[in-house]
Amino acid sequence: MKKIVLITGASSGIGKATARYFAEKGWNVAATMRTPANETELPQLPNVRLFRLDVLDHDSIRQAITDTQAAFGGIDVVVNNAGYGAVGVFEAATPEQVQRQFDTNVFGVMNVIREILPYFREKRDGTIINVTSMGGLITFPIYSIYHGTKWAVEGFTEALSFELRPFNIRVKNIEPGAIKTDFYDRSQDLLQKEGLTDYDAYVRVTLANSRQAGVDAPGPEVVAQKIFQAANDRSFRLRYPVGNQSPWLLALRRFVPLSWFHGIVKSVVEKGYKPQTA
Ligand SMILES: NC(=O)c1ccc[n+]([C@@H]2O[C@H](COP(=O)([O-])OP(=O)(O)OC[C@H]3O[C@@H](n4cnc5c(N)ncnc54)[C@H](OP(=O)(O)O)[C@@H]3O)[C@@H](O)[C@H]2O)c1
Repeated sequence: MKKIVLITGASSGIGKATARYFAEKGWNVAATMRTPANETELPQLPNVRLFRLDVLDHDSIRQAITDTQAAFGGIDVVVNNAGYGAVGVFEAATPEQVQRQFDTNVFGVMNVIREILPYFREKRDGTIINVTSMGGLITFPIYSIYHGTKWAVEGFTEALSFELRPFNIRVKNIEPGAIKTDFYDRSQDLLQKEGLTDYDAYVRVTLANSRQAGVDAPGPEVVAQKIFQAANDRSFRLRYPVGNQSPWLLALRRFVPLSWFHGIVKSVVEKGYKPQTA
């Protein structure tokens, strides 16, 4: 019997690569996205069905779950992938930008989990995979709001895993480092505030360095493979770092004091920045 996965944010990047990879491996795939009408590649693939799902729209989540169950006869794995980065200094962000970042990256994940749990609990089986980030356990400059969301998901899901284990529901977090996707351009919400210029030199340098990490990064296929590994892992392992930096950076963070670790982060991300003296 073919396994069934439902993926959020499958219109591009990691979500799309994951839909492709699971389909290649013979899974039935519910590739969900905000505007399925725009998607041309995935509908061509065998075993892939497209459904509309906006993580901020509860009805669309319920409907996509129901449609997936009707199309394939059930759901084995849910991949919470939809998300984006609000990037810039905190002082430049409007309350609406902060709210939208948490709505999508945190409450969106909770919304999907809330809707799938009755079904997984009833059948005493299921796997919830969240694409968090290495930025859910460590931090970098000009990503404070994004980190707030990913740290929230890491904390929420780590605690959630206690109460779901008795029902044989596995919770797994995929923690990518930089991955070459639309994350660094189309999807990015660049935080800027008119008249706020004091941070300009800092943002110019750190933004360029962080975008360069995206340019030098591997493609989303490496994450798709890791998600597939996690989906097939019947253990209750919670964390799966993936990408060029994530496994060693997360390991390093565990072994060195925070001040040393921040020195390393600054030497990379703030490279080229000369603080102005008053
Ligand atoms: N790329 C990286 O370096 C990196 C590193 C660590 C973690 N991540 C995480 O990986 C995940 C996927 O990002 P990506 O790198 O693949 O970037 P991406 O190519 O920009 O993909 C983001 C996806 O999220 C979807 N999305 C955004 N808001 C949504 C909403 N309200 N409802 C449903 N879907 C929504 C987008 O849909 P639309 O097409 O409709 O905009 C798009 O499909 C994110 O959670 C991100 O935080 C990325």
